[in-house]
Amino acid sequence: MATLQQLSTNHLLGIKYLEPEDIHLIFETTRNFKEVLNRPIKKVPSLRDITVANLFFENSTRTRISFELAEKRLSADIVNFSASASSVKKGETLLDTVNNILSMKVDMVVMRHPAPGAHHFLAQHIDANIINAGDGTHEHPTQALLDAFSMWEKVGDLAGKKIAIFGDILHSRVALSNIFCLNKLGAQVKVCGPPTLIPKYIEKLGVTVEHDLRKTLQWCDVANVLRIQLERQDLKYFPSLREYALYYGINKPLLDSLDKPIVIMHPGPINRGVEITGDVADSDHSIILQQVENGVAVRMAVLFLLASGR
Ligand code: CP
Repeated sequence: MATLQQLSTNHLLGIKYLEPEDIHLIFETTRNFKEVLNRPIKKVPSLRDITVANLFFENSTRTRISFELAEKRLSADIVNFSASASSVKKGETLLDTVNNILSMKVDMVVMRHPAPGAHHFLAQHIDANIINAGDGTHEHPTQALLDAFSMWEKVGDLAGKKIAIFGDILHSRVALSNIFCLNKLGAQVKVCGPPTLIPKYIEKLGVTVEHDLRKTLQWCDVANVLRIQLERQDLKYFPSLREYALYYGINKPLLDSLDKPIVIMHPGPINRGVEITGDVADSDHSIILQQVENGVAVRMAVLFLLASGR
């Protein structure tokens, strides 16, 4: 595959809009920044004189802290905005809010927003690099990049590898971004969950569907387990969390009964005892904390590459 020197886009709106070569360039850059993060002095001057605004209109722990650390490691100037403590509460529009922030000479915007497509709207109206840190049930591109990078570290080239995504596929931006990313890298992708939590036409995205947890675990090399997103569910999609855990919860006896060891991943936050038991999340099979560690290097790579194209 030809190696790019620069991304083919000025924004990271979603994995859907990246070329496979973009993803390979991000991974190559991530490897370099991972090496930097293991040095005694973890800071580089790559984003000196670049100002980044982190705009979070939805709650976040991992993504927000990870972006902020990535920006600090790259020596960027940072402003943080949280919708709950802002003039959005007084009725200000998204465009007005962002234009006011940009008039203070901001170069890059990292945004999490509950409305799918909010980032596309901004990219059409403002002159800054936009990075999607999660837009409603649509995409979460840096999560998919850090997931795929973590899989690559564990099992090597993803072409032909069997990756299963479990749980609430219907409400998950992580699932959609993972599907786009893994398809572009040539992996075989299967989704598994109760029929009510699998979108009807998901096969059109190039994945297969299985409702049997054990069969899917037996099939896959890597299991990416998703949270039940109760906050996005306006209907009842299954009788109770207890019943969900019974049919779709991954526990240690189940893992131990498989023919081969598999890699367990979870983007967090985890509902321990629902989609995954604590002993599985904390087991040697799990790379959940490596995912979080890789998140900083992946986000450094994305920020650096987008800033290089300015
Ligand atoms: N994985 C993820 O997006 O976590 P946060 O919601 O805590 O950022």
